[in-house]
Amino acid sequence: MIITIITLFPEMFQGPFAHSIIKNAIGKNLVKINFVNMRNFGIGKHKIVDDKPYGGGKGMIIRVDVLNSAIEYAKKMYKTLDKYQKIILLDPTGRTFNQKVAFKLSKVKHLIMICGHYEGFDARIKIYVDDIISIGDFISTGGEIPAMLITDSIIRLIKGVLPENVITEESFSTSKKQAFLEHPQYTRPKVYKKYKVPEVLLSGDHQKIADFRKKSSRELTSKIRPDLLKT
Ligand SMILES: C[S@@+](CC[C@H](N)C(=O)[O-])C[C@H]1O[C@@H](n2cnc3c(N)ncnc32)[C@H](O)[C@@H]1O
Repeated sequence: MIITIITLFPEMFQGPFAHSIIKNAIGKNLVKINFVNMRNFGIGKHKIVDDKPYGGGKGMIIRVDVLNSAIEYAKKMYKTLDKYQKIILLDPTGRTFNQKVAFKLSKVKHLIMICGHYEGFDARIKIYVDDIISIGDFISTGGEIPAMLITDSIIRLIKGVLPENVITEESFSTSKKQAFLEHPQYTRPKVYKKYKVPEVLLSGDHQKIADFRKKSSRELTSKIRPDLLKT
């Protein structure tokens, strides 16, 4: 899979993508991540990318012409994949990201994500994208952290990045095995202060352990996220 991130701040990604599972996936050539700096498509000597909003108001708006030039550039980087690419605008007005969306995006061959900044984008940019995604009902300073989060959650779903059962047995999995929140997990020590690990997990009885986990997964879901049981 190829992920191309259009941003004004490519340096922000250096740390998060240089460790752990993402680093390994890049190392194994299971994913390639590129950055396109929107600034390179800015206007004039000062490479200006934004301007004041028509009609007045606060802040600065990213220009549609500048951003669309960056999108065109990103598309041309992998011209042969143009039938298999998806352009995503990161914006609070988009549909909310979740594990189902992550699964779908992990199958895309070339995913282009656009990070906004300042007051956001000229609305006309929405004509040039395939989807608009929000990471939740709150506002982050820019699209960079949302892009990191989406990239991270997608990469771990690419075949070969993690063992299959890690994916199918965790919270929000789309598999039938685990449609709820994951059951609580425990490790050593057996007793911490006055708190004990549930006895059944020490029993060695695999059936009992599986039943206990299934039951606690349902109980946890109904207590914390009853909405998941309805869907
Ligand atoms: C400060 S925000 C702009 C918010 C915009 N004025 C609004 O009220 O909807 C700047 C950029 O951060 C990104 N961003 C902020 N919150 C986001 C969210 N919940 N999901 C995805 N991207 C977000 C977007 O790319 C956005 O263009």
